[in-house]
Amino acid sequence: MYMIDTNVLMNAVLCAVLVVGALVVGATGIGAWSGARGRAMSYLYMFSAMFVTFTAIVAVMGFRGAKSDARPWHFFLDMKYQAKYTSQGASKFFADGRSNRPALEGTIPFDGTDYAADAGAHAAPNPDFLKADKRYYTGVANPTAKEQVDGVDVPAKPKWENGALTGEGYYVNRIPPLAVERAGGWEALFKRGQTQFNRNCAVCHGTSGRGGAGELAYGIVGAYGLSVPPSNLLLPNVQAQPDGQLYHSITNGVRNMPAYGHQVKDPLDRWAIVAYLRELQFAYGNEVLDKK
Ligand code: HEC
Repeated sequence: MYMIDTNVLMNAVLCAVLVVGALVVGATGIGAWSGARGRAMSYLYMFSAMFVTFTAIVAVMGFRGAKSDARPWHFFLDMKYQAKYTSQGASKFFADGRSNRPALEGTIPFDGTDYAADAGAHAAPNPDFLKADKRYYTGVANPTAKEQVDGVDVPAKPKWENGALTGEGYYVNRIPPLAVERAGGWEALFKRGQTQFNRNCAVCHGTSGRGGAGELAYGIVGAYGLSVPPSNLLLPNVQAQPDGQLYHSITNGVRNMPAYGHQVKDPLDRWAIVAYLRELQFAYGNEVLDKK
C-alpha cells in the first residue's frame, strides 16, 4: 500500500499499527451498525478517529522522497502544463505544419546583417552562410599549428626561405583571393583600406601608421597620453607578420589594443586595412620582404 525507505522494522511496526487500526475501525463499524452504545463505544469512536488521522498523516508524509516511474499527481499545476510549442514541434494551426515560423519578408536582425542573404532564402549558394570560408573570416590557416616559446604555446610562425614565404604557420600568409575579388580588384581594395584605416586606426597609429605617444605621437590619442604607446606599424617586426596575423589583430585586438572586429564589421574592410598597411610599409621605404 505504501513505500517508505526506512528499515524493515519500522515497516513492520507500521503494518502492525495499521492492522490494529483497521480492526478498531471495523469493530466500531460493526458496533455502530448494531446500535451499540455506552462507554466502550465512545472509546472505539475515539480510537477510530485517532487512527484515521494517523493514516491520513502517514499517507501524506510517508511518501515524501519516495521514487516512482508513475505520472505524478498534480494538485497545483503552476506552469507545468502550458499551451506552447516545443522546439521542432509540429503545428496544427499553420498549413505547412511548422511551429517555428520563418522570419517575415524584410525582417532586419538587431545587428543589421542581411537576413535574407544569410540563413534565409537565397537563390545561389552563399559563401557567407555559416562563415564557411574560415581563412577569409578568421585569418587562421592552421588552428593546430603551435610552437613553444618559453614553455608557452604560441601560434606557429610562417616558413621563410630565401626571402620568400614558403609555408603557412598558424595564420594565413596572404590576403585571401576572395577579398580581392569582392573588392573588385587590388586597386579598389587599397582604396577601401585607406578609408577604413584613416577612419578606425589613424586616431592612434596616425595616418602614416607610425603610432607613438607623447611628443613623438603621430596619432591624436597617443599625443594625449595612452598608458601603452600605439605600435609603429612600419617596423620590420610588424612587416614580417603574415597578413592573417594583422587581420587577426584588427579583429580580436592584440595585447593592450582592443578588438576592432565589432567596429570594422565587414571582413572585407579588415582585409582592405591589411592591404593598405602593406602599402604604407612599402611607401615608407621598407625593403620588400616577400620576394616572390
Ligand atoms: C585606441 C587606440 C588604437 C586604435 C584605434 C588602434 N590601435 Fe592598434 N595598437 C594600439 C596600441 C596601444 C598597440 C600596442 C599594444 C601593446 O603593445 O600592448 C597597438 C598595436 C597594434 C598592432 C600590433 C603591432 C605589433 O607591435 O605587433 C597592430 C598590427 C595594430 N595595432 C593595428 C591596428 C589597426 C589595423 C587598427 C585599425 C583597425 C588599430 N590598430 C587601431 C592602439 C590602437
